[in-house]
Amino acid sequence: MTLIAFETSCDETSVAVVRDGVVLANQVASQIQLHGEYGGVVPELAAREHLNNLLPVARAALDEARISPDQLDAVAATQGPGLAIALLIGLKAAQAVAFALSKPFIGINHHEAHLYSPWIAGSPPTADFSNFEPNVSLIVSGGHTLLVLVEEEMRHRVLGGTIDDAAGECFDKTGKLMGLAYPAGPVIDKLARQGNPAAHDFPRPLIHEPNDDFSFSGLKTSVRYYLRDHPALLKDPKQVRDLCASVQAAIVEVLVVKTIRAAKRNGVRCITASGGVTCNQGLRLALERAWEKNGFRLRLASQNLCTDNAAMIGILAERKLLRGGCVPARDAEPEPGWALA
Ligand code: KG4
Ligand code: ZN
Repeated sequence: MTLIAFETSCDETSVAVVRDGVVLANQVASQIQLHGEYGGVVPELAAREHLNNLLPVARAALDEARISPDQLDAVAATQGPGLAIALLIGLKAAQAVAFALSKPFIGINHHEAHLYSPWIAGSPPTADFSNFEPNVSLIVSGGHTLLVLVEEEMRHRVLGGTIDDAAGECFDKTGKLMGLAYPAGPVIDKLARQGNPAAHDFPRPLIHEPNDDFSFSGLKTSVRYYLRDHPALLKDPKQVRDLCASVQAAIVEVLVVKTIRAAKRNGVRCITASGGVTCNQGLRLALERAWEKNGFRLRLASQNLCTDNAAMIGILAERKLLRGGCVPARDAEPEPGWALA
């Protein structure tokens, strides 16, 4: 099966071509610079930019894959969750393509696709479900922090999520307090590498609670109060690096401890992680250490598939179409609040 997939749920315009589990092309046009000056994603601007980018990105994906539209067997797009007017652009474009080619269309849940992105690896990126096993999956992005038990392929149960800010949001908001550019996550990651993570003892919210929920707004507030009381700190690059390392250590420790605990409690031996924050070197290292110590099998999404991409949408869509039982719907509407069950 050869399938084209569209992803426009937030600020990346992405189109992928997938054939029999192999990602033939995964083009991504990022809007980070556009939203940078506003300090966050502006939905209206995101939608306009998706409109501008979608056709060139789709053309580039087809060129890279060396596929012509008449060779496509199916079309997929992210249906939700995400920004309503951003989702609308990719979804309706994909449905128009499906209609024009008289091919089936399938709408995909963006978070469900994240669950399977760690199983796409290699060059060319290929979905390998031969070693698939039950796992606890951590999805950490700017908008979400979720722990999901994936009992088997296409069967999962959400264990917990954030009750306020997402982990990526915490990186971005604390970075903003420090005067760092948006999105601050990658900047903090870089500065933290030369900082002392023990310089400040910031709170690890909910770390001892026997549930799988997260809360990061209190950590952000602690940083705000600390900076209010020590404004001169921001003038000293060493102290900024220490602050970044300490904030990162607090976020990472909560994510790792709760993920490991969830895996143990649910009796699974495999942990996966995806979403933009999974690019964080501190998080990747901490999960690897925990993996060595506890004997878990660890699957981290590869760096280019951590952030939003159409490859994961295409891989899941193909899997669903091949398994049958899903109803292709060319008239499906965006589902901005489509939560994973
Ligand atoms: O998954 P993503 O591209 O978009 C959504 O939010 O859906 O994730 C973006 C988030 C931002 O909050 C960004 O700061 C964070 O991921 N991020 C990072 C790193 N790279 C991206 N956070 C920490 N360390 C990084 N290296
Ligand atoms: Zn995402």
